[in-house]
Amino acid sequence: MTPERPVLLEIEDLHVSVGDREILRGVDLEIAEGETHVLLGPNGSGKSTLLNTIVGMPGYRITRGSIRFKGADLAGLEIDERARLGIGIAFQRPPAVRGVRLRQMLDVAAGGELSGAEVSALDDDLSLGHMLERDVNMGFSGGEAKRSEMAQLLAQMPELSLFDEPESGVDLDNIAVVGGAMNTLLKSEERIAERKRAGLIITHTGHILEYVNADVAHVLYAGRLACKGNPLDLIEEISSHGYDACVGCKLCQSL
Ligand SMILES: Nc1ncnc2c1ncn2[C@@H]1O[C@H](COP(=O)(O)OP(=O)(O)O)[C@@H](O)[C@H]1O
Ligand SMILES: [Mg+2]
Repeated sequence: MTPERPVLLEIEDLHVSVGDREILRGVDLEIAEGETHVLLGPNGSGKSTLLNTIVGMPGYRITRGSIRFKGADLAGLEIDERARLGIGIAFQRPPAVRGVRLRQMLDVAAGGELSGAEVSALDDDLSLGHMLERDVNMGFSGGEAKRSEMAQLLAQMPELSLFDEPESGVDLDNIAVVGGAMNTLLKSEERIAERKRAGLIITHTGHILEYVNADVAHVLYAGRLACKGNPLDLIEEISSHGYDACVGCKLCQSL
């Protein structure tokens, strides 16, 4: 980690409520240019809530704290304004968009019409085929929906990509395709000094880390980021001893 790199995302003391329930209770997180972070945490701990709040999905109410991106406070900015600033997301369960074909959605994501060659390149990487002329995510299989999400991110090329469980509901062949697209976005095989785009990846199993190198992992627990460490070490620790033991360990307590 090189602290002198410009900070891209800066979250301070973030409290978020959904309905009348407080889900996040003081999250602090900084992601600098070129860094890839992993977010771990038990089911229902608020991982998706954090990502949905960063992109500005409706229903996630910030009651305290702030999210800044490239120095700008995101409070009050709509989803599309945040996307234009350079934030993109691949949802865990992407919503279907009736009446909008994937081909059209790729132009929207790119901020202008893609050339035939650019669409062909995305098709080659992600086997989009007939999906291009279908309404976005309408009746797509799990693997198709993930490939469609990745195509939209590759068209957008955001400075910060958020991935909500990119390997969930996806077979091994599709994980490899999704992992390849994530690598293109994050250039994670290159030295950190060569990278510019950043990522935040939610994973349960860590399988996706066979395809993408991550710099650091955080554990979301009881509404806060309770532990931080090497991604593969933390995943191994959690799979053998569970989250309770992980956040109770000496390393986490010293944070
Ligand atoms: N849109 C929503 N409407 C109602 N409850 C929600 C919504 N989003 C999240 N929650 C609640 O917030 C809690 C955290 O959920 P989530 O962020 O999806 O956790 P995770 O992704 O870590 O499994 C859960 O109790 C969930 O039911
Ligand atoms: Mg989730």
